[in-house]
Amino acid sequence: MSQTPYDLIVIGSGPGGYVAAIRAAQLGLKVACVEKRRTLGGTCLNVGCIPSKALLVSSAKYAESLHGLAAHGVNIGSVFFDLPTMMARKDKVVKDNASGIEYLFRKHKIDWLQGRGRIAAAGQVAVEGAADTKIYTTKNILIATGSESSPLSGIAVDEKRIVTSTGALSLSAVPEHLVVIGGGVIGLELGSVWQRLGAQVTVVEFLDRILPTMDGDVSKTMQKILDKQGMQFKLSSKVTSAVNDGDKVSLQIEPAAGGVAEKIQADIVLLAVGRRPYTEGLGLESVGVVLDERQRIAVDSRFQTNVPGIYAVGDVIRGAMLAHKAEEEGVVCAEILAGQSGHINQDAIPGVVYTEPEAASVGKSEEELKKAGTDYKIGKFPFSANGRAKAMNETEGFVKILADAKTDRVLGAHIVGAEAGTIIAELALAIEFGASSEDLARTCHAHPTLNECVKEAALAVAGRALHI
Ligand code: NAI
Repeated sequence: MSQTPYDLIVIGSGPGGYVAAIRAAQLGLKVACVEKRRTLGGTCLNVGCIPSKALLVSSAKYAESLHGLAAHGVNIGSVFFDLPTMMARKDKVVKDNASGIEYLFRKHKIDWLQGRGRIAAAGQVAVEGAADTKIYTTKNILIATGSESSPLSGIAVDEKRIVTSTGALSLSAVPEHLVVIGGGVIGLELGSVWQRLGAQVTVVEFLDRILPTMDGDVSKTMQKILDKQGMQFKLSSKVTSAVNDGDKVSLQIEPAAGGVAEKIQADIVLLAVGRRPYTEGLGLESVGVVLDERQRIAVDSRFQTNVPGIYAVGDVIRGAMLAHKAEEEGVVCAEILAGQSGHINQDAIPGVVYTEPEAASVGKSEEELKKAGTDYKIGKFPFSANGRAKAMNETEGFVKILADAKTDRVLGAHIVGAEAGTIIAELALAIEFGASSEDLARTCHAHPTLNECVKEAALAVAGRALHI
């Protein structure tokens, strides 16, 4: 048993875990973080958000060179891409970011305990390293072990032909036909990467719309745009089997409600039907940590589990499985442990889909407001009426603002369009500050910028948009 007593041991170094470790160290706690990967940063940095964005940017540059530059009067002759260089750049982006976290750990004197962490007892974490297992004592334990791809019965992932997002980030060649199971965020982002690089992409979605958790207008518009880019959709459909016969994968697809099956072949199948909390081998049963009905770790408003001194944040608990949500929770949890109070407004957590153009949302969707019986007003403004968007030749999409019919408070905002993921920050701030649509409408926005679409959509809530 190691004699070093910690104030906090964090298990998992993803955005929830490493940020909590930094914040706790800033507040004077003695902190260690257990990570079994050879690099810090978790799924997001190693096999998620960061490498996918690297490939999305590279493939978008290629697609723009092919299809987007001539309209600007820029002709560059024949265009080709070099996949190994693209992949090597992606790997370097990941490596540089991971070294950044190592630097931050050193700066804040956070110990990285390399190995697999298990809760041996309240106040004790066992770390199984390459050579031995050590037990560390600590006042508090924070579980931030994230999530893993959800499996689907009849589909055996081998990360070669039938892949999760992890395998789809490292294919050695562009597949002729990529079948994506699941029209959610991963399916559309990674489907876009390979479609831009020349793959025929078919997305099979169980429900009758893609991006089913987003506002219906976003789903509809994104499907139209992606369809125009060449992505094919089979909605209200389910894959019942996928057999890898060496060269190809044979898939059987049926209507979601049952009916006649169809057979298609794919070179690669990407399984992207959601993620589930990753709690395997943590020793939760032995210390009596209770899970909720969806196998997530149950926590109270202070992120404490039913076992005093054991906390959890991020994908392992309720709420959106998003890196920035985990980060916010990590910060608040660390502050609570240091004796401060903390609070997160779950309605002000934006979500971004990094397709081309991007889709972004914050707060309630129209469907959610309808379901809750809330009276609301809508203000919508198209990018096609914005001067900067026209100058950029990026006129697809809209900003849609939903405001309370009585108080005018902004309840939700939804964007499809260039830089939607950046623009949404203004609307998250509006929700966090309890702003009204009039507040947004009366805020001076620089001209010409894409953000003027936000101002115009806010004006449109009161029926007084200036440019439509
Ligand atoms: P998701 O929940 O976004 O989408 C899964 C999709 O699969 C849904 O549309 C669902 O209806 C569909 N589906 C479920 N079962 C199916 C079946 N049997 N056959 C066909 N379709 C089926 O999950 P996804 O894309 O796997 O992403 C996992 C998590 O990672 C999400 O929580 C997502 O928010 C997060 N993520 C976030 C990113 C971002 O913020 N840009 C990027 C990638 C992932």
